[in-house]
Amino acid sequence: MIDLRSDTVTQPTPEMRQAMAQAEVGDDVLGEDPTVLRLEQHVAEMLGKEAALFVPSGTMGNQLGVRVHCRPGDEFLCESQCHIYHYEQAAYAQLFGIATQPIETPHGLPSIEQLKPRVRGSDFHHARTKLLCLENTHNRHGGVVLDYDALAELCAWSAEAGLARHLDGARLWNACAATGRSPAEWAQHFDTLSVCFSKGLGAPVGSALAGPQALVDEARRVRKALGGGTRQMGILAAGALHALEHHFPTMADDHAKADALRAAIADAPHLEVEQPGPQLTNLIFFHVDPEWGTAAEFAHRAREQGVAMFDLDPTRVRAVVHRDLTMDDVHQAGEILQRIARG
Ligand SMILES: Cc1ncc(COP(=O)(O)O)c(C=O)c1O
Repeated sequence: MIDLRSDTVTQPTPEMRQAMAQAEVGDDVLGEDPTVLRLEQHVAEMLGKEAALFVPSGTMGNQLGVRVHCRPGDEFLCESQCHIYHYEQAAYAQLFGIATQPIETPHGLPSIEQLKPRVRGSDFHHARTKLLCLENTHNRHGGVVLDYDALAELCAWSAEAGLARHLDGARLWNACAATGRSPAEWAQHFDTLSVCFSKGLGAPVGSALAGPQALVDEARRVRKALGGGTRQMGILAAGALHALEHHFPTMADDHAKADALRAAIADAPHLEVEQPGPQLTNLIFFHVDPEWGTAAEFAHRAREQGVAMFDLDPTRVRAVVHRDLTMDDVHQAGEILQRIARG
């Protein structure tokens, strides 16, 4: 099976498993796991922040990010297709009494003009608007890299408007590989960021929330309340450290493979590849012409022929390229998809 369902299906390499097996560990709830401490310091440095906290998942990183900026009765602004709003069960509302205003955009980045009327004043009839959340790269907008200059301008405006900024940087590594900009360069526009090691970087588990020390301390408290205080977590942190050191530098390879698959799909009849921006990464979204059939039928036929993908909408399929695929796998997948599209 050529598995294009997600970059989360990546397997730890033998070298990563070895690094994990040999990790020096301690009780992380007591602050005594040297490998976790090393990872947290390394991530904070990479992102140019005071501190970072290792968490089990991107979802927890995001929810802690929202929670450290907002209290019950507060709200945050976000893009309507973002992971925090679309895929995290409104956990901010379930767990913390926080509301949101989602904003529709064509390619993932709201404009200042869109945000201006959404920031509410001090009238006590309203929720208090406290935070702007962005996502880069943007998953449901096709893995697009947000435009750097527009993002910088939006974040500067948000700061002036009194909004904190949180980035869902689950795939920030891909944005860095696609643009040549460092993690810290992107991160400087945000107060807090969540980044994932378990997606394109290929570690089995883990994410981190980075930001100012006081907010990371608060996040550590909330993580404990959510049952996320864990003990000899260094075994997992070692996988993340290995991924940052050995896999992050090769991330652009995934984009080259994705370009090849994108080209093959674009050549197929009845399929239309989304081009949400000039800088594309490892996610490919394409539309299936209803004359051919539904996206679900297309994904089903592909799976029967050895290519696994998710249909996300009635006409839309997502294919994700990752480090466990070779260029040959990608060429083979492209040929299979073309054959199915031809009927
Ligand atoms: C953009 C984005 N943010 C956050 C997450 C959540 O990560 P996790 O599955 O580790 O909770 C994902 C997961 O795919 C994602 O794509």
